Amino acid sequence: MSALQWATAFAPASVGNVAIGFDILGFAVDALGDRVSVSRSGQPGVRISAVSGIAGELPTDPAQNTAGRALLALHEALAPGCGFEMRIEKGIPLGSGLGGSAASAVGAVVAANALLGSPCEKLELLKFAMQGEAVASGSLHVDNISPSLFGGLVLTVGIDHPRVKRIPVPQGVCAVIVHPHMFLATRQARAILKREVPLSDFVWQTANLAGFISGCYTNDLDMIRASFEDVVIEPQRQALIPGFAAVRSAALAAGALGCSISGAGPTLFAWALEAQAQTVLAAMRAPLIAGGAAIDEWVVDLDREGARVVASG
Ligand code: HSE
Repeated sequence: MSALQWATAFAPASVGNVAIGFDILGFAVDALGDRVSVSRSGQPGVRISAVSGIAGELPTDPAQNTAGRALLALHEALAPGCGFEMRIEKGIPLGSGLGGSAASAVGAVVAANALLGSPCEKLELLKFAMQGEAVASGSLHVDNISPSLFGGLVLTVGIDHPRVKRIPVPQGVCAVIVHPHMFLATRQARAILKREVPLSDFVWQTANLAGFISGCYTNDLDMIRASFEDVVIEPQRQALIPGFAAVRSAALAAGALGCSISGAGPTLFAWALEAQAQTVLAAMRAPLIAGGAAIDEWVVDLDREGARVVASG
């Protein structure tokens, strides 16, 4: 039995899909993230007492809120004998494609788990957090939840019984990320996707995912570069993001290993050698600025920690 009365967790942003791993591959971006505090309450159930930061209009009904739904799932499963009061501080812009809903859900369950004396392994927390992600996007997917929770580049296999594998990233490779200030709803970006994939695209995409993962394990930058191409989802979504084609071409011309949409967009990312990262960033930035977009930008290490408790008492 933990004596803690409250705990605060930081959960990082993430880039989902990583081009070729739709809904199953993602990496953590801890340059930004959400902070979630959970405290014991005498009232039963789960209550959200505050949402602050880059919050916009977020529901405070726990059943309608990503962090609330995740915390409800944990509360129902563990029956801790107390209620939970939660405060959410959003550091990830809504509708940015940087895994904001996943981070809130992950932060909630990591904080609550610490509060209760850490009864759950991360894999159990993953299942609770997935319930929250479903509120935001209308579907259960794990490519943001897993990296936000585990850190690094993560492959997740399975939904009911997920298996998580942290994939090594070759030394000296980093991510370049540009976020145009535009809201894009994940639901909308999922709704436009065709339900069927031509067999030839399925073969190509499968080869690219296998090539990408094997390239990561064998430090084969040429294989990573050759397979860093989404032939299924990106062609359908790129029209939602003004300037996408120009940004991708510029990144590749500047030496990026690959460039694609972060999650559902509109954020765009590239992988690049550290020595070329600033050149790639400048190349990606230029078409967006020329198109009149305001942007945020980051160059980040790919091997970063996942969610963690940052304060408790
Ligand atoms: N894999 C998801 C998608 C990530 O691309 O729709 C968005 O949260």
